[in-house]
Amino acid sequence: MQSAEQARARDSSFNAGNDDTPGCYEHIDDPAYWERTLDDRYTIGVARTLDDQFQCMMVRGLVYIGEQNSPYPEEFDGNDHSATHVLLREDDEPVGALRIRYFGEFAKIERVAIRAPYQGRGLGAPLFGYAIALIKYKGYRKIYGHSQERLLSFYRKFGMKPISKPFHFSDHVYYEVLCTVEGGGRSLSLESDPMQLLRPEGRWDERGIMELSQDRDPTNPGVQPSGADSGS
Ligand SMILES: CC(C)(COP(=O)(O)OP(=O)(O)OC[C@H]1O[C@@H](n2cnc3c(N)ncnc32)[C@H](O)[C@@H]1OP(=O)(O)O)[C@@H](O)C(=O)NCCC(=O)NCCS
Repeated sequence: MQSAEQARARDSSFNAGNDDTPGCYEHIDDPAYWERTLDDRYTIGVARTLDDQFQCMMVRGLVYIGEQNSPYPEEFDGNDHSATHVLLREDDEPVGALRIRYFGEFAKIERVAIRAPYQGRGLGAPLFGYAIALIKYKGYRKIYGHSQERLLSFYRKFGMKPISKPFHFSDHVYYEVLCTVEGGGRSLSLESDPMQLLRPEGRWDERGIMELSQDRDPTNPGVQPSGADSGS
């Protein structure tokens, strides 16, 4: 088995991303859309608290370590504190999770997991769709991932197509998959209102705590008035 870099270098003509299989959901730019496709018991959102993050790690422990025998240091690889985690809950019960890491040119979706008793019930799709919409909203146009061979059809539903020959790590065969989404629509940029950029991740359409703070006049607490020490 060769590395992904070798695979691409050896066959530069290989680009299954050129096929015209449509991605069903890549046009959706509203993360909240996905929660609305589920009934009221379900919530999908960015993990905002340490407890939310524990729940994400628990789901991954069950799925990857419990079901797929992933070694602990490979599952928890040192990248969790530099990632955005997304959590899917049924009532108070954490049932699904994934993480997103951001690079200059693209965002990468990783560790997609639905707990075994909940798999095949249409929960993985909205969890993944939420992540794509979140990434689009942040302004990224390229969404990248590593798909286990058996899950290529799952990734294709989101327009993520293989761009490499197979390579392997952590005992599984993977393909690099990539989706390029359209610009426009809802998307954060330097043109965005600065107060919108201050809102909690994924809740960019709701007034945030910083907007509420604008009800207080700016008193610049702890800051010396300018020129206060000019005579010393
Ligand atoms: C992959 C995973 C996240 C999918 O979640 P899920 O809740 O079972 O998926 P859904 O029920 O939402 O199915 C969504 C679609 O993907 C398809 N799909 C789901 N699992 C699939 C599989 N193993 N192989 C092929 N297609 C699959 C479904 O058929 C469905 O297609 P449809 O819309 O045409 O009916 C889940 O099975 C899982 O956690 N697996 C173990 C962890 C894992 O391997 N993660 C991926 C690492 S790359």
